[in-house]
Amino acid sequence: MERIYLDHNATTPLSPAVIDRMTTALAREWGNPSSVHHFGQQAKASIDEARSAVAALISAEPTEVVFTSGGTESDNLAIRGAADAQAIAGRRHLIASGIEHEAVLTTLKALARRGWDVTLLPVDETGIVDPERLREALTDRTALVSVMHANNEIGTVQPVAQLARLAHDRGALFHTDAVQTAGKISVDVQALGVDLLSISAHKFSGPKGIGAIWIRRGLRLVPQLTGGKHERNRRAGTENVPGIIGMGVAAHEALTTMEAEGQRLSALRDRLENAVLAAVPGTIVNGARELRVPNTTNISFDRVEAESLLIALDLEGFAVSTGSACSSGTLEPSHVLKAMGFPAHRTQNSIRFSLGKVNTDEHVTKLVATLPTVVDKLRSLTRTPARA
Ligand SMILES: Cc1ncc(COP(=O)(O)O)c(C=O)c1O
Repeated sequence: MERIYLDHNATTPLSPAVIDRMTTALAREWGNPSSVHHFGQQAKASIDEARSAVAALISAEPTEVVFTSGGTESDNLAIRGAADAQAIAGRRHLIASGIEHEAVLTTLKALARRGWDVTLLPVDETGIVDPERLREALTDRTALVSVMHANNEIGTVQPVAQLARLAHDRGALFHTDAVQTAGKISVDVQALGVDLLSISAHKFSGPKGIGAIWIRRGLRLVPQLTGGKHERNRRAGTENVPGIIGMGVAAHEALTTMEAEGQRLSALRDRLENAVLAAVPGTIVNGARELRVPNTTNISFDRVEAESLLIALDLEGFAVSTGSACSSGTLEPSHVLKAMGFPAHRTQNSIRFSLGKVNTDEHVTKLVATLPTVVDKLRSLTRTPARA
């Protein structure tokens, strides 16, 4: 059976160029980049090259890019590092949207337990933060605002530039989690006007366990890993050389193919979405349909439990997801759809389809041909009447 992968927001397959380059790196660039001799300097030169490629992806200066172990660590460093630095000035209030990734939400919960005030902003039914709500929440004690660039479950893109301006007006820093946008749409740190930005390689055909945080030049952040003077004293620990090299190749590829791939994927996604809405009664799209990354659609199926549909589709060879990968396997309703104000039957019945490089027209045709029968079969097993 051909297996069709439609879960690229969870992770992406490595691009062949990344595999090739990392294979060489594992064999040859094993030196410690901190070593002064040839072996170390060879590894360091490759890291510098990768840093430039990652910086180019987000229109930043290479010296402002710090490599981390991924999106989760970048989010932690941004929030904890900025919070610790700002606390000295008496700023002990943090703001984020209610639809952030767990990497942000759980970090905020941990800080709240240590005495920080935390405000979670609501979103409207399209999944967008209203800038007015941020204006109301900001105080002179606000240290940092963290609002994601695009949401992992529904793909909606937030008005980050506008939100960052509001935060700055009150003297607060602004962080954005751009894990779901880097490599998919243009991410320009200057145009966004943020202070801190997180990205992760495995979301754009790079390896797992490697990511980066962009830190605006001159910004003081308290390091969260203490040790050696790596990454200009901002993140201690011998660098993950092959991971960094792989991330650099993936960043370069993503930048050069982004425009054409974005157009191809949004056409494919729209075809998938429209065909599912037409062929399966009781379906509805979650989130703003215009302000979205090009590869994502999130659809609720009335009278079908998402986990059952996910498993039934897997048996047919289609890999999809119920909301975020991290909460899959539990029957918890999506916190994102809950924050959008949807009732249980919509928050527990949603499936995320996220497309990527490997997907073709034929994949969408096959999915659309299979889905109505699978949904019909599941519905015939439940007694719940259709909602009017
Ligand atoms: C929006 C968002 N932020 C952060 C992360 C965490 O990134 P990583 O898997 O690299 O730790 C993810 C991954 O699912 C994500 O989608």
